[in-house]
Amino acid sequence: MGPGLTLPSLHGDRLRLEPVADEHLDLLVELNADPEVMSFILGRAATPDETREEWAERRGLRTDVERGLGFWVGFADGEFVGWWSASAFAPDPARSGIGYRLRRSAWGAGYATEGARVMLDHAFAMPGVEGVFASTMAVNVGSRTVLTKLGLRHTDTWVQDWTRSVGGPIAGWEQGEVLYEMTREEWAAQP
Ligand SMILES: CC(C)(COP(=O)(O)OP(=O)(O)OC[C@H]1O[C@@H](n2cnc3c(N)ncnc32)[C@H](O)[C@@H]1OP(=O)(O)O)[C@@H](O)C(=O)NCCC(=O)NCCS
Repeated sequence: MGPGLTLPSLHGDRLRLEPVADEHLDLLVELNADPEVMSFILGRAATPDETREEWAERRGLRTDVERGLGFWVGFADGEFVGWWSASAFAPDPARSGIGYRLRRSAWGAGYATEGARVMLDHAFAMPGVEGVFASTMAVNVGSRTVLTKLGLRHTDTWVQDWTRSVGGPIAGWEQGEVLYEMTREEWAAQP
């Protein structure tokens, strides 16, 4: 990585998206401290240490600045809304992971879809990205609706046994996880 190289800033109609930096960690800790936001992810609020660990991984292995892939925080009218990703996927560099997590006060205003569309277009603007994917719990209807609106297809469902995990399973675990995907051809064929 060259010195000073960073991910680009991006924007939607309302959202200004900045690459995640140290200065955003307090906002991300606060976001993860809301148990409602984390209900399909941890089933409870995350501690500040858990959030810092999560972001060390995201900004490490799952970010590839040279290829333009990573994580962004979004602001609308100067207010923090949440984060989005078009992230690097080490096991298959031809695929990028789409993700998002928004603070509760911003839900229901179309921001998840707006930011995720920016991520999708950004991922496919990067040479070498042939497909994107996203996964979520089957019972996370809100997240699945966002992915469907973007034009991703539900391609797989699998059930992991969470019953012995620390803290117990998240309600709905028995319906499993769902995978959504879109190929470069599908993206290019969109109206
Ligand atoms: C899921 C989440 C991203 C949705 O964000 P949002 O900004 O409210 O989504 P949008 O406003 O763009 O909504 C997109 C569509 O999903 C629908 N939707 C959103 N949340 C929904 C829910 N809980 N149940 C049913 N539909 C929902 C909206 O009505 C909208 O559909 P429409 O355009 O037909 O009206 C947000 O609730 C969130 O961040 N949750 C916590 C983190 C999370 O679960 N992230 C994804 C898991 S990996």
